[in-house]
Amino acid sequence: MEYAKVIEHLNRALSIEYSAVIQYCQHSALVEGTDRMVYEKFFDEASLEARSHAKKVSDWIVSLGGVPTIEAARILQSTEVTEMLRQDLKTEMEALQAYKDAHAAVKGESPIKYLLEEQIMLEQQDVWEIEKFLAMHKLSVKTKTIDLAAS
Ligand SMILES: [Fe+2]
Ligand SMILES: [Fe+2]
Repeated sequence: MEYAKVIEHLNRALSIEYSAVIQYCQHSALVEGTDRMVYEKFFDEASLEARSHAKKVSDWIVSLGGVPTIEAARILQSTEVTEMLRQDLKTEMEALQAYKDAHAAVKGESPIKYLLEEQIMLEQQDVWEIEKFLAMHKLSVKTKTIDLAAS
């Protein structure tokens, strides 16, 4: 079948999206302290986003002649917010890779390629956002001294 490999990668992506739904939902419930003010909403919205991605990918799989999986991938748990974010980053990176693999498996110029490009972009943005929460891009910005007395 023309799309067998693509469907295989999409089903892996779907399993990861299902695990992300549950993982983010639990993180949203478990986060405590002042971190809760930011991350309860962030995790909850990320869970809903993963659910919408799961439906989208399921529809693509059926359109390509496959059956969407009902198995979730491994779910990572923690009660500590930095560890939660590290776990979520791992999950987002795995999803990103699954979509990239699906994209690479598309033969010719099938329109599914463009749908996958959009999805890769969305997952990359999720990865970048969590990397920023984890302060992984700490840059050294030159400070500029302004002499108030001179003006
Ligand atoms: Fe996703
Ligand atoms: Fe994502």
